[in-house]
Amino acid sequence: MSTTPSTTGSDDGPGDRPVVVLGATGQQGGAVVRALRERGRAVRAVVRDPAGARARTLAAGGVEVVPGDLDDAASLRSAMTGAHGVFSVQPSSGQAGSGVTDEDEVRFGLAVADAAQAAGVAHLVYSSANAVGPVPTGVGHVDTKARIEEHVRALPTPSTVIRPAAFMEILLLPGSGLPDGRFSFLARPDQAMQFIAARDVGRVVAQVLAAPSRWAGRTVELAGDALTGDALAAVLAGHLGRPVEYRRIPDDVLARERLLGRLAALVDDGRLAGRADLDALRADFPFLLRFDDWLAGPGSALLDAALRPTSGGVSLR
Ligand SMILES: NC(=O)c1ccc[n+]([C@@H]2O[C@H](COP(=O)([O-])OP(=O)(O)OC[C@H]3O[C@@H](n4cnc5c(N)ncnc54)[C@H](OP(=O)(O)O)[C@@H]3O)[C@@H](O)[C@H]2O)c1
Repeated sequence: MSTTPSTTGSDDGPGDRPVVVLGATGQQGGAVVRALRERGRAVRAVVRDPAGARARTLAAGGVEVVPGDLDDAASLRSAMTGAHGVFSVQPSSGQAGSGVTDEDEVRFGLAVADAAQAAGVAHLVYSSANAVGPVPTGVGHVDTKARIEEHVRALPTPSTVIRPAAFMEILLLPGSGLPDGRFSFLARPDQAMQFIAARDVGRVVAQVLAAPSRWAGRTVELAGDALTGDALAAVLAGHLGRPVEYRRIPDDVLARERLLGRLAALVDDGRLAGRADLDALRADFPFLLRFDDWLAGPGSALLDAALRPTSGGVSLR
């Protein structure tokens, strides 16, 4: 975990003011909503389609659902009126089918931060990614996040940047090879790579928003486990009760699929492999799941799905 000096001071208690959550119908925002609700916090979800099934599920869980779009700054300002905190996450060009460009992602991220500033919220949490660092990566949807981080830090609004490692969820996307007793990913067989459960992103964010003065001004590299390619296969084999052979995604695929190839290069040079201090993180966030626990818990349905034969290729975001 890297830290910069904390902005200290007494916490501005939330009272009944809500936390505004972007991306609440998605993976990270959904986990943040659940974790905040588990703590009894008031939540306001900004959604594009309030009548959609996911928005209605949020509303049924006691969440205030308001219409808004990342591309409509006025809707963001309106959504943040009277809020105590904001969780900011954006879709990226790295997500197949998102239709989002890198310029879109940056514009969205800056708009959320500016709206939080204009609304005078007590704390903003921005979700970035672990490969972000002082040196540009050349991967569009990583370098976008460096630009958003910089903007967030420059604002007077107290903020925390979290940099999640690769999600455990992406390990079980279609195309992993598991139905055939194989498992393929970006790491080399003997190279450790860090991962985090999406559930834990939510829990960490809820804990940060419960103690804003402790976390303000900090950048938190986030992971729950670190495993080599061979170790990933061994954990999977333990759950399946049969051998699983690890093979890194083949070089010809990495050469053909440009984004995958660039991500693999970032794993090789260590930036996407992760640099979170797992022991220090566990001291603050003892709930962080290891891959083994995640497979037995929140990941079990995804493991079942990954065992069904598919014709899909590997897709990472
Ligand atoms: N995969 C990884 O391992 C990993 C690791 C670290 C960081 N990341 C980063 O995580 C981010 C994605 O987070 P996620 O996985 O939580 O995404 P996700 O599950 O795809 O959810 C995206 C959310 O954004 C909302 N959204 C999309 N466009 C919008 C718009 N114009 N206005 C308002 N809301 C909009 C979607 O709402 P709708 O329901 O309206 O579509 C949805 O709630 C990306 O930036 C990615 O680079 C990924």
